[in-house]
Amino acid sequence: MLDILKYPDERLKQVSKPVEKFDAKLHKLLDDMAVTMYHANGIGLAAAQVGEFIRLFIIDTAAADEQTKHLQEFINPKISGGEGKTVFEEGCLSVPGVTEEVVRKEKITVTYQDRFGKEYSLTTDGLLAVAIQHENDHLDGILFVDRLSPLKRTLVKRRLEKAVTL
Ligand code: CO
Repeated sequence: MLDILKYPDERLKQVSKPVEKFDAKLHKLLDDMAVTMYHANGIGLAAAQVGEFIRLFIIDTAAADEQTKHLQEFINPKISGGEGKTVFEEGCLSVPGVTEEVVRKEKITVTYQDRFGKEYSLTTDGLLAVAIQHENDHLDGILFVDRLSPLKRTLVKRRLEKAVTL
């Protein structure tokens, strides 16, 4: 089990570096992240959230359902071809207790590698597309609260700052 960094930890603002080695150490990190994500009842987790600043994240949009559990690993992801707009109520394992509506692209294409370095391209929409955009932001040091309107962001951050000092 890995520790998940929590807002306002400054390390969450760090920009992650590309993954270069597809070795046993990487596989161990991915496996540990999966255990951590399922335990925390999340549907996505970026390496940056566990203090490893390399470009990868995992997603399982069916995590709540044992029957249809399906873990997807995205390494060195690159999002392109955004289309349309969609609004989801988002939360984040690094920002506990806060959910807010965030505007994202409705349909995206993402190219990425798997844990062995093999390349893929995926065009998707719905919750998976939202999750990919949310997790990809973590690799660039961006939290979902940074995507809110300035007024909402100020309110949320004030609420969070109060929460962590209590
Ligand atoms: Co998050």
